[in-house]
Amino acid sequence: MTRAACPGSFDPVTLGHVDIIARTSRLFDEVVVAVGVNDSKRVMFNTDERVGLLEEVLADLPNVRVMTFSGLLVDFCTEHDISAVVKGLRAVSDFDYELQMAQMNSTLARVDTLFMPTSPAYSYLASSLVKEVARHGGDVSEHVPPVVLAALKEKLAG
Ligand code: PNS
Repeated sequence: MTRAACPGSFDPVTLGHVDIIARTSRLFDEVVVAVGVNDSKRVMFNTDERVGLLEEVLADLPNVRVMTFSGLLVDFCTEHDISAVVKGLRAVSDFDYELQMAQMNSTLARVDTLFMPTSPAYSYLASSLVKEVARHGGDVSEHVPPVVLAALKEKLAG
């Protein structure tokens, strides 16, 4: 049984995330989408909202489940028998920090990181940009699943 983690904040999940998770689900028996809970990070969607959106969006991928974690990612992986972390790389600018984290993580536990190039259609996409554009009334319907679009509209209206 091969099990991988796709970790992130997912505030909120974008089509770029879905692309990486779906492609990872074709390579591993099981994929755990690991939603980081970090109380010091300002988020638009709380943990339950982020998990709920991910569950709806990923419902048609039978070998994918969504879990939360706090503390070190490698501890979560060890606890759940996860041997690989899969991270999407959008551009060279992502690489430095991701490499640093991957190397640190590999010294902390027997967890390897695999980098998956983002599909070109999503290479500029980031949750932070989606939120910024949506906050200013821009159209993000091409960048997020419909359920996330509705959640963004509701959040920003309230
Ligand atoms: O979507 P994000 O915000 O880029 O996700 C970052 C995340 C949650 C994957 C990363 O911050 C993380 O792994 N946090 C857990 C804490 C940890 O293990 N830190 C040490 C990294 S070397």
